Amino acid sequence: MSVKPEVEAFFDPSTNTISYVVKDPNSSSCAVIDSVMDIDYAAGRISYDHADRMIAHILKHELMLEWIIETHVHADHLSAAPYIQGKLGGKIAIGDKILVVQDVFGKIFNEGTEFQRDGSQFDALLKDGDTYRIGGMTAVAIYTPGHTPACMVHVMGNAAFVGDTLFMPDGGSARADFPGGDAATLYDSIQKVLSLPDEMRLFMCHDYGPNGRDIQWETTVGAEKAHNIHVGAGKTKDEFVRFRTERDATLSMPRLIIPSLQVNMRAGEMPTDKDGRPMLKVPVNGL
Ligand SMILES: [Fe+2]
Repeated sequence: MSVKPEVEAFFDPSTNTISYVVKDPNSSSCAVIDSVMDIDYAAGRISYDHADRMIAHILKHELMLEWIIETHVHADHLSAAPYIQGKLGGKIAIGDKILVVQDVFGKIFNEGTEFQRDGSQFDALLKDGDTYRIGGMTAVAIYTPGHTPACMVHVMGNAAFVGDTLFMPDGGSARADFPGGDAATLYDSIQKVLSLPDEMRLFMCHDYGPNGRDIQWETTVGAEKAHNIHVGAGKTKDEFVRFRTERDATLSMPRLIIPSLQVNMRAGEMPTDKDGRPMLKVPVNGL
């Protein structure tokens, strides 16, 4: 808690995702968390305006990019990790349960044997409690499955990047109904986050500005414990599971789930057709 990383947030309004550049306060080393590739899905066109804004920030401040972290395989936006790595270096890391996700979605997208289900598309696969260094700062990755099997929360000094484990207190929690998701498991994972010190800063991966408020992405463990509308103020596991299950049954699929999964399970690389051209599939009635 004594280390206070410098956190710069980059909001993507088209997917309501917040990406971060996290800097070690005592060196020029930094990490990128949950980058975003821009896509016009209707046109099948990709671009990198959002990632370029992060790259410009890193270059302007003469930072050294050590890690490009994915908190999980996102279903609502595409990662720009390989693009950023190509410009700035750094190692792309995700939780080692990515193998489960690759197996599940490898089947759904009927991927051939050329799609490796061993996580080898990533530079590092993190296990529960694994640590890594950003300059002089130690980061810890903690398993937080439930939204997806491969979700992890990354704790760096007095800041934790919670992915989709939690939303802001008035946003509650993320859905737990994707293949491999589980509401009871998500509740247990959220309790792990809430057991961190009350003053720990929490940084969200998403915010949708509920009830018309402005977009926000930073809160604390104490605020989530006291006020989170899904899990705060002593809500029980049974209450949470009942609520989450009923709510999830009413939600439609995220607009970008089909391209997102195919790209993100490949660490941000586009799948290719037999001639090596970037090409996405749509499994009809497959999700
Ligand atoms: Fe997600």
